[in-house]
Amino acid sequence: MALRKIVTEGDDILLKKCRSVEKFDRKLWDLLDDMVETLHDSGGVGLAAPQIGVMRRICVIDIGEGVVEFINPEIISTDGEHEVVEGCLSSPGEFGLVKRPEKVVAKAYDREGNEFTVEGEELFAQAMCHEFDHLDGVLFKSKVIRMLSPDEIAHDDE
Ligand code: CO
Repeated sequence: MALRKIVTEGDDILLKKCRSVEKFDRKLWDLLDDMVETLHDSGGVGLAAPQIGVMRRICVIDIGEGVVEFINPEIISTDGEHEVVEGCLSSPGEFGLVKRPEKVVAKAYDREGNEFTVEGEELFAQAMCHEFDHLDGVLFKSKVIRMLSPDEIAHDDE
């Protein structure tokens, strides 16, 4: 396993659409292991493959309840909508208000190539929307209602 360098905003790689995964092989597993290690090292809740320069439809999420690996994910349905504070490992230190669904049902494949369905609420739902957006080259800033000021961010940390 190895830590990967996280690409930051301004690199065009973050604006490109990723291709589907077709092979569920050792190479994919090594990539997933690296992504999980990089996510945990970063302190974030989600990481998408394009953020480490790999243009495939893969992301990992861990909101503190264990890692979920998503390969070729798709949103099946959403419910509700609320304004939430959001940031991105590719935009360090920046946060903004975004409208996200309260509930998301998604399907994806695991590392063995088995399809699974997952239902998430609140932060997990938000993280799925954010990470899946990355796979289409969409950054949260393109959806932001307004960015938070440094004062608001400092207050959030208290
Ligand atoms: Co992000």
